[in-house]
Amino acid sequence: MTPSRRSLLLGATTLAAAHALAPGIAQAAGQRILRLQTRQIDVGGRAATRYGAVQPSGAVGLTLDEGDLFDVRVENTLKVTSGLHWHGLNPPWQQDGVPYISGPPIAPAQSAAYKFPARPAGTRWMHSHFGLQEQDLLAAPLIVRETEAIRSGRQEVVVLFEDFSWSPPESLFENLRRPMKGAMTMSMDPANPDLNDIDYDAYLANDRTLADPQVVDVERTGEVRLRLINGSASTNFTIDLGADEGTLLSVDGNPVEPLKASLFPLAIAQRIDILVRLLGDGRAVPVLARGEGRRLQAGIVLRPPGAAVAKIPLEGATDGPVVGLKQEILLRATRPLAAKPVDRSIPVVLAGSMMGYTWSMPVHDMTGAPATVARGERVELVMRNETMMAHPMHLHGHSFQVTEINDRKLAGAMRDCILVPPRTTVKVAFDADNPGIWAYHCHNLYHMAAGMFTTLVYRDFA
Ligand code: C2O
Ligand code: CU
Repeated sequence: MTPSRRSLLLGATTLAAAHALAPGIAQAAGQRILRLQTRQIDVGGRAATRYGAVQPSGAVGLTLDEGDLFDVRVENTLKVTSGLHWHGLNPPWQQDGVPYISGPPIAPAQSAAYKFPARPAGTRWMHSHFGLQEQDLLAAPLIVRETEAIRSGRQEVVVLFEDFSWSPPESLFENLRRPMKGAMTMSMDPANPDLNDIDYDAYLANDRTLADPQVVDVERTGEVRLRLINGSASTNFTIDLGADEGTLLSVDGNPVEPLKASLFPLAIAQRIDILVRLLGDGRAVPVLARGEGRRLQAGIVLRPPGAAVAKIPLEGATDGPVVGLKQEILLRATRPLAAKPVDRSIPVVLAGSMMGYTWSMPVHDMTGAPATVARGERVELVMRNETMMAHPMHLHGHSFQVTEINDRKLAGAMRDCILVPPRTTVKVAFDADNPGIWAYHCHNLYHMAAGMFTTLVYRDFA
């Protein structure tokens, strides 16, 4: 075991595996098993039963190395229909894990197999794309470690941030959908946008609140690579390193020119890799995720030998900052798209109704129409947000580059999820090189469930 691999395991959450392999399911050589199962977590001293994606070893999620095959069987031990989507990987379309689009969901006691090159490498994640199961914490890290990260021998710490409510997601959604409730909660005032639809009871970092945060032992000096995942259903975060600075290495798993900061916006479904250098002063370094427009926060602590770990309050002194695109404008992809003119530009309006909680994303002004492309094209999506909420927009099966924000041209980051704030237009471009039918939607779970969802379809794919 290499030191970096060992330290990665130290940073991972483990849970006791409770299920034996279902009879009749033989494990092929090299194949990994992920079980959809229920598990118990402790939130503020109270036990919560939620879902999880766990290997037979008890490891949560999956870690592979660059160049590996993604050879996985998903076993559904839940009493409900489910499945997993590989967010940020670009597999053949039938293996994307989106029910009724890439294939059928997985019925209880059934399983499904996946086999494709684990590409692109980087910090990815997995989650159920079925109903509102993501809010029931059916999400986990999916890390494809870059060859350079492996060679560096640096310690890595993976953190999955989530939002938690004691209420079942169906009732949270019903509440939003109550006649007039939606209209009342929707702001009409451009100076006062809506930041949140839901009041959460807790935020979690690797399933734990700040009452009992994960404390990761690190060396006195040296560097730690944080792989931070916003796996929440409906909360944008700002990562706050406090007095310390970190260097941004990648966003959504894709490398960017290094950028130093102590605050990093992290919208729903996005990931950031940050390099933290331990200064040798023997201080513990908290890594906090602060909820947008909320005092509530979650986090972990990096602890050099002998460092005291102070108690961190569940709530910060001030609301978490509004998550916008100030930092996005500074990002430069280190592996951008090849220079090439756009063959097809597709206008997409992000829209919402004031008459109730409904959202939509008309393509070419047609609600419900897919975005249609042909193989080989350079495609541009022009997303114009006409609502008073920000929308983290995610395209499946492709990595896109951010090319323009409100008329300002950029050679921006490569991503799979971009936040489009209120009254903002964002252009992204990608190469249509993965034929099939792909989900394209807002990653706020409740916006997606209330209609902000469409597909990207290739002409004549077979
Ligand atoms: Cu994170 Cu449609 O997916
Ligand atoms: Cu949205």
